[in-house]
Amino acid sequence: MFEPVKIAPSILSADFMNLGRDIALIEQAGAGYVHVDVMDGHFVPNLTMGVPVVKQLKRATALPLDVHLMITNPLEQLPWFLEAGADSVTVHAEVLNAEELACALATIREAGVKAAVSVKPKTDIAVLEPVMPDVDMILVMSVEPGFSGQGYIEGSEDKVARIAKMARAAGVAPLIQVDGGIGVATAPRVAAAGADVLVCGNAVFAADDPACALVAVRDAAEAARLAAVVNA
Ligand code: DX5
Ligand code: ZN
Repeated sequence: MFEPVKIAPSILSADFMNLGRDIALIEQAGAGYVHVDVMDGHFVPNLTMGVPVVKQLKRATALPLDVHLMITNPLEQLPWFLEAGADSVTVHAEVLNAEELACALATIREAGVKAAVSVKPKTDIAVLEPVMPDVDMILVMSVEPGFSGQGYIEGSEDKVARIAKMARAAGVAPLIQVDGGIGVATAPRVAAAGADVLVCGNAVFAADDPACALVAVRDAAEAARLAAVVNA
């Protein structure tokens, strides 16, 4: 049974001087999550937000907080983000060996939080195979992590399809999330390939009407996903 496609607006593209207003906007427009891009200036060149922001967001919205950790030391930082109220936490496979990755995912799940793993565009997706039963979500980066507003990397939808196939073969069904360059043109492609959750930064918050933009992306994705199911 398919759940509808969910949109996870990334507040990295929101107006930080009016963050409460922007969160209320996406909440009313039917966002599925608030996507929080945590960057440490090491794993990625950019430096963004951390635990105090997650804590305040938790008080400001009923939407689930989807925390994307683009940091080199997730094992050290995880307890703080779990404590701060994250509802799902994504760690990057590139900074953890197999044992550490398993430990990070178990720590997240033990806190009753959804555990997710992400792969950068050039990372071999074979790294996902051993942890398939241990993840609630897999995040496919469709840009090099670090900045919002970049162009979608062509072919990312093929990776989504390969991961969906890998999950089916393992007998599991983690959500598949895609992050980077997603808008009305690219959302249908990744949704048709099997994406369940679409992160949108600029496509939502740089639009004149963010609520309208969110609905347009979601509708385009949902239509493509239904068409793909019917044609399968
Ligand atoms: C990139 C971040 C993304 C980014 C998405 O490293 O993980 O979440 O904010 O922004 P857009 O949708 O503008 O590519
Ligand atoms: Zn992100």
